[in-house]
Amino acid sequence: MDSEENERVKTKYDNIAGIYGVVDLLIPDAWRRRATSFAYDRVLEVGVGTGLNLPYYSDHCQEIIGIDVSSRMLDKAREKAAQCKTPVKLEVMDVQDLRLPSGSFDCLVATFVFCTVPDPIKGLKECYRVLRPGGRLILLEHMGSDKSVLRCLMNWLNPIAVMLLGDHINRNTADLVTGARFGTQIMEYLLWDIVRVIVAERTL
Ligand SMILES: C[S@@+](CC[C@H](N)C(=O)[O-])C[C@H]1O[C@@H](n2cnc3c(N)ncnc32)[C@H](O)[C@@H]1O
Repeated sequence: MDSEENERVKTKYDNIAGIYGVVDLLIPDAWRRRATSFAYDRVLEVGVGTGLNLPYYSDHCQEIIGIDVSSRMLDKAREKAAQCKTPVKLEVMDVQDLRLPSGSFDCLVATFVFCTVPDPIKGLKECYRVLRPGGRLILLEHMGSDKSVLRCLMNWLNPIAVMLLGDHINRNTADLVTGARFGTQIMEYLLWDIVRVIVAERTL
């Protein structure tokens, strides 16, 4: 794991925590509502950020643990956690190295996180480990298009996006999910094939 890149991601989100609400203006509520609708029982939300998904979790969820590498993003999440009808616990933690027991969650949610995690396969393998067999991985992510012209453009723009935003715009997150041994159950396209909801299962 490249610790310099990890530090860069953490510092970036610490620095923008106060204005992160502006980024959220680009994300329709319906996308968050759709992704969280798949969650139930004991939920781990990784990269919970400022807690923008918390208002959307249903009564089917019994407990939410939210983790993030940025303590300043989590500070912002505390207000939303206090208003959430489901009990929420927030902790600073790296998805690439979860200090959580294996098989301890029914569902794992991540929204717009795996575009920034330095080693997404390592992160997804950790997600697999902490889910119980049959547990659900629920992702709302932007990713590289399967359409060749768009993919070429995204590949070309990617170094600029990484440099300016620390955001990998051409990752094939759907393939990474399969690579981490998850069995995909649902793939919904929300904005062409660039923004998708993926629901996958820990098979073993
Ligand atoms: C684009 S923001 C998304 C925040 C929130 N999920 C949302 O939908 O508004 C990415 C979040 O992932 C967090 N993050 C990035 N790398 C991480 C890692 N390795 N482990 C845990 N959180 C991470 C960042 O600190 C940030 O809060």
